[in-house]
Amino acid sequence: MQRSAEVLTIPTITPQELETKNDPKTKKISCGSTPTTCKKDPYRSFDGICNNLKNPSWGAVKEPFSELVNNSYADGVHQFPVTSENEQLPNPRAISLLLFPSKNIIDYKWNLNTMQWGQIIAHDMSFAGRITLINNNPVTCCDSEGQLASDSDKNPFCAPILIPENDAVNKEDGRECMKFVRTVSTKDIDCTSSKSPSFPINEVTSYLDLSLTYGEDNMAKNKLIYPNAKGYVNDYNPNVKAGVLKESASAAFRYFHTLIRGQLRLFKESRFPYQSIRLSDWLNKPSILEKNDGYDGLMIGLSFQPQDKSDQYFDREITQYLFKGNKTLGLDLRAIDIQRARDHGVANYIDLRSYCGLSIPKDFDDLCDYMSIKNVNALKSIYKRVEDIELTVGGSLEKHVHGTLVGPTFLCILLRQFYITRVGDRYFYENGEDKEIAFTLDQLETIRKGSSMARLFCDNGINIKKMQAKAFELVSPWNAIVQCDQLPFVNLTLWKDTQ
Ligand code: HEM
Repeated sequence: MQRSAEVLTIPTITPQELETKNDPKTKKISCGSTPTTCKKDPYRSFDGICNNLKNPSWGAVKEPFSELVNNSYADGVHQFPVTSENEQLPNPRAISLLLFPSKNIIDYKWNLNTMQWGQIIAHDMSFAGRITLINNNPVTCCDSEGQLASDSDKNPFCAPILIPENDAVNKEDGRECMKFVRTVSTKDIDCTSSKSPSFPINEVTSYLDLSLTYGEDNMAKNKLIYPNAKGYVNDYNPNVKAGVLKESASAAFRYFHTLIRGQLRLFKESRFPYQSIRLSDWLNKPSILEKNDGYDGLMIGLSFQPQDKSDQYFDREITQYLFKGNKTLGLDLRAIDIQRARDHGVANYIDLRSYCGLSIPKDFDDLCDYMSIKNVNALKSIYKRVEDIELTVGGSLEKHVHGTLVGPTFLCILLRQFYITRVGDRYFYENGEDKEIAFTLDQLETIRKGSSMARLFCDNGINIKKMQAKAFELVSPWNAIVQCDQLPFVNLTLWKDTQ
């Protein structure tokens, strides 16, 4: 029997839960250089230090990720997780091929801006660091032709994804593996002892502070100045650590890789499409922005094309051709997502259901409440026991909670993540408790009334004159394209320095 409508809701968050349970383990670990006292500053520091005055390292760059549930490492410290019968977990590429194939079904409401905004938020909050050089030698593990490096089984940073027998495309090309280098952990930088659990290191600040746009060096170099401030939503809680949860960054949030479309179209101001490009041809090649009105063409494209539907299907451009460069084949982002969650020792699917107060499946058949029978059977074919199902895999197969783009387990995790990200940030723009820091009421009001993605595109495009008001939603009779000057704007004169 299906009880989906009734069970696919999640219990609400109690703030105390996130205070006390929020990471008692990493609470005391600090990996960067931290001052013992903080001076009062109206602006954020570029490295996140001293946001929390009692715990200056919380949320700072190069600090460990947080977790909701204890790690799943085989040795409790750093070794890749194994099954409940002490066997290797199934091959990540095989899981990707079976459960996350390519099928282009598009979203009827949200456009590609929604996907793109998600990626920006994701990397504003976390970027797991990878070692690229050891003793000045590049860490290869598996080369761009898909051949295993000779030292890959000895190098502790290597965990290449092996190509399974049934992967016809890669086998035919003679490929053995896909590159995978482990994330730098607290153990690698001697921040935790060799016997205590390791945590992956986050290279950026955990706060929503645009840390991704500038990078530590540029931020310092350009002496970036934040606007003066005052504000309203006073629920800053200094006992909440705004860390980035492994369950979020290494599993739940990555589910939205499903929203990526492999083919991008460029549009004229008339919304006439004049060019179409493959994602894998242009990843990491910003020169496309300078060619042929590419900047405006792509920006209009983001607002005019639907994103891919949020579902278990992932575009081949990222599951077969990711970072292919000038080669014919590339990597599989879904297989990498699965492997990365193992690398980070993310707890398994059932443990997270339990943490979230959701029902705990005792066997595969119990999963039918949350997943289709077809998916349950597929899971049965790859995992021996329901306890072995990984969060990245199980969570991505759940039916969605009504009105959201995720199932109940991922929703529970994402809600907790964004809750702690807000209430644990002393500089959150709506916080008005400290008048030295806060926006004025007028400033806050103009931000709330006047800021929009649509206006941002209008004001930052080279020659964009028209945009729909709800720029994350597709154009429709209810969201028609209008002239830019009809859209509200932020009154920046309220930030004028009068002294
Ligand atoms: C063109 C679109 C995108 C591409 C090519 C892309 C690619 C990647 C790659 C290569 C990684 C690192 C994988 C690893 O080695 O572990 C990654 C990580 C990640 N991605 Fe995406 N991604 C895209 C869009 C998105 C979107 C739309 C979201 C969410 C809404 C997202 C969320 C994340 C998160 C949370 C991580 C982990 C960040 C960290 O903690 O290091 N990505 N992505």
